[in-house]
Amino acid sequence: MLRGGRELWWAFFVGILITGAYGGVYLTTRKIPAASELFGHAIGIFGFILMLMTEVLYSLRKRTRSASWGRMSSWLQFHIFTGLVGPYMVLLHTSWKFNGLAGVTTLFTLIIVVSGFIGRYIYTRIPRTLDGLEIEGTLSESALRQARQLMALWHTVHIPIGMALFVSAFVHIGGAIYYATLLK
Ligand code: HEM
Ligand code: HEM
Repeated sequence: MLRGGRELWWAFFVGILITGAYGGVYLTTRKIPAASELFGHAIGIFGFILMLMTEVLYSLRKRTRSASWGRMSSWLQFHIFTGLVGPYMVLLHTSWKFNGLAGVTTLFTLIIVVSGFIGRYIYTRIPRTLDGLEIEGTLSESALRQARQLMALWHTVHIPIGMALFVSAFVHIGGAIYYATLLK
């Protein structure tokens, strides 16, 4: 379940390892890893794959009612883990330059992560089974009804931001491959 915050600790721990690798590259090359060079490029690609997994896997599990796919709540924990580690890797990929569309893509990424934390907070206010399904009966109290309405409202913001993010990311990637990789 989300209440323990285990996925946040895992993301934090892996974040430290990635920071260590980034620091190691910085110290050996004595410059900030560039987005188009080996390390910067690799963390951009790997981070983006994790972000794609974040976008797709939990939604797939949520729409598959079969429990043999693993608990929905575990998939949400994994969603949050990859939804933090992926954007962090992509942030290190930027080489701290945020020009043009790539900068806008980074902004969308930041917004979806912040929005995710808000959603996570509201999500934990709604009583659920271990699998993560809402428990209908107890929702007659007004505070809990409110949490449910807030969650529905939150979905109408979080999901479109995710879509805008992937549209701009794919244009950035197409442009980057064409200009920075193929034309070199
Ligand atoms: C959501 C994912 C991504 C975000 C937010 C992002 C963001 C950025 C940013 C902010 C920059 C620096 C732009 C500047 O110089 O001002 C950059 C550069 C670059 N990115 Fe990404 N990136 C992402 C994914 C990727 C992926 C998956 C690839 C590889 C296919 C990639 C390839 C590149 C390349 C090659 C550059 C260097 C461009 C150059 O030197 O002109 N990016 N990216
Ligand atoms: C790359 C970053 C992220 C992307 C692309 C993303 C995308 C999505 C999408 C598409 C959904 C809708 C799932 C569905 O109802 O089918 C969702 C739900 C959700 N996300 Fe994220 N997310 C990201 C990061 C995060 C983070 C960092 C957190 C928490 C800290 C988070 C927490 C949640 C929660 C609580 C839900 C609602 C689950 C539910 O109502 O069943 N997300 N996300």
